[in-house]
Amino acid sequence: MTEKVSRRIFLKVAGTSVAGVGAAVSPVGSAVAAGNNQAAIQTAAGAAVLPYPKISVGKAQSMQANTPVSFSYPDGDSPCVAIKMGQRVAGGVGPDGDIVAYSNLCTHMGCPLMYDPATQRFKCPCHYSMFDPEKSGQMICGQATEDLPQIQLEYDPASDSVRAVAVTGLIYGRQANVL
Ligand code: FES
Repeated sequence: MTEKVSRRIFLKVAGTSVAGVGAAVSPVGSAVAAGNNQAAIQTAAGAAVLPYPKISVGKAQSMQANTPVSFSYPDGDSPCVAIKMGQRVAGGVGPDGDIVAYSNLCTHMGCPLMYDPATQRFKCPCHYSMFDPEKSGQMICGQATEDLPQIQLEYDPASDSVRAVAVTGLIYGRQANVL
């Protein structure tokens, strides 16, 4: 009898202890969950406070067909090129819908690209990758595995201005386009 009572008491005490441990663990789990939520909020807030700038690329009427125009976007360390292709292309802006722009850094190892007017392709002199500006910077061949980041443009007919407003794709060497 004495033994049974002891066992009952033991189980009662043990159950209370386990419940206590459970109660003690629960707030820790809540703290971790709360921490994760806060990180997500911080990430969302970080993205919200780093918008792309609007930068003038030039006047559409001053651009010559098949002749690259150099500029930097979204900051001075990111060389880019705008080109009036001479025929309407997807994503093109301007009166003829033929002006597009791209990062001028190869997506393989960051070498500056050359625009070849004869083939209307970007070519990398380092390891011979090629990109198609008529197809949103699609990688054609070579060592690169990523398409060329495309600079999103907008056109204001009133002022004939072409402006860079965003980037599609990650600029070579960066963890974020806007630093
Ligand atoms: S850096 Fe352009 S192909 Fe290697």
